[in-house]
Amino acid sequence: MTIENHLQQWQNQVAQLLETRLPQPETMPHTLHQAMRYGALNGGKRIRPILVYATGEALGANIDDLNAPALAVELIHCYSLVHDDLPAMDDDDLRRGQPTCHIEFNEATAILAGDALHTQAFQELSSFEFSPQAKTQQLEMIRILAEASGSLGMGGGQAIDLESTQKVIDLAMLENMHRMKTGALIKASVLLGALCAGPLKPKERQALNDFADAIGLAFQVKDDILDIESDTETLGKPQGSDLAKDKSTYPALLGLEGSRQKLTDLLQLALQALAELPYNTQLLADLAKFIVHRKS
Ligand code: IPE
Ligand code: IPE
Ligand code: MG
Ligand code: MG
Ligand code: MG
Repeated sequence: MTIENHLQQWQNQVAQLLETRLPQPETMPHTLHQAMRYGALNGGKRIRPILVYATGEALGANIDDLNAPALAVELIHCYSLVHDDLPAMDDDDLRRGQPTCHIEFNEATAILAGDALHTQAFQELSSFEFSPQAKTQQLEMIRILAEASGSLGMGGGQAIDLESTQKVIDLAMLENMHRMKTGALIKASVLLGALCAGPLKPKERQALNDFADAIGLAFQVKDDILDIESDTETLGKPQGSDLAKDKSTYPALLGLEGSRQKLTDLLQLALQALAELPYNTQLLADLAKFIVHRKS
């Protein structure tokens, strides 16, 4: 099966999971539930849950156990997008090819929908009945997801992003911001998938950390490049949004060539880290390449 076929299959699985686990639209409070579904059931690449599945499967996890962490990381991601697009943040009006949540509903509803998606992630992860193989790591999974989402992870990265708008920051600060705002959740996705297979040996954890660090940073570097190189229709979000807001991005600091070189280096690091693992990591390698070569 090609990586495209795998992606499609996993995307369908994630869509189905979200469809059943999100509150049904006819239940009270209707508008909030409709906004939550709107913010999560609107496509997207689903790369974070796919990383949960691919890592878990490579390490021998039980497929049913992977559903809860897969759902949890995508719920956190969808919440982050709904809030990222708000007028107080990036003020964007298009997401995944549709009006953003606050445009379709209103700002207050979008804030609450984000909050509720965020909370549901932890509800799913903490209430799932894992098999014995994964159960002993349940608390660790919750802790990892909380750290990745909070002020030392995505939330903190978003704060630095806003503080760095219309400013010149140095490369170390930019890299740190990208690792926090995007890398942290991607890293958590890899680790949660792995922990479903059992406790991690120190060498395995190191290799997975190195792999996830590299693809996590690469993901945001590529996102920054696409903001310049792609078009609104392909992206499903407004092309040129970073430039218009004078955001601190990799191309702004290193130029397009420098940013592309950074991506190549990060892919190399990711593949080297995978080679340290005694498993079949072909799919993870294909996903790393997909992250670097994707068109949207
Ligand atoms: C966009 O994430 C926001 C970033 C963290 C760069 P994705 O590119 O994964 O967005 P979707 O989920 O595919 O829409
Ligand atoms: C978003 O970064 C990071 C998040 C945690 C949501 P961006 O602001 O670059 O994401 P897009 O380009 O709007 O998807
Ligand atoms: Mg942003
Ligand atoms: Mg944005
Ligand atoms: Mg972006």
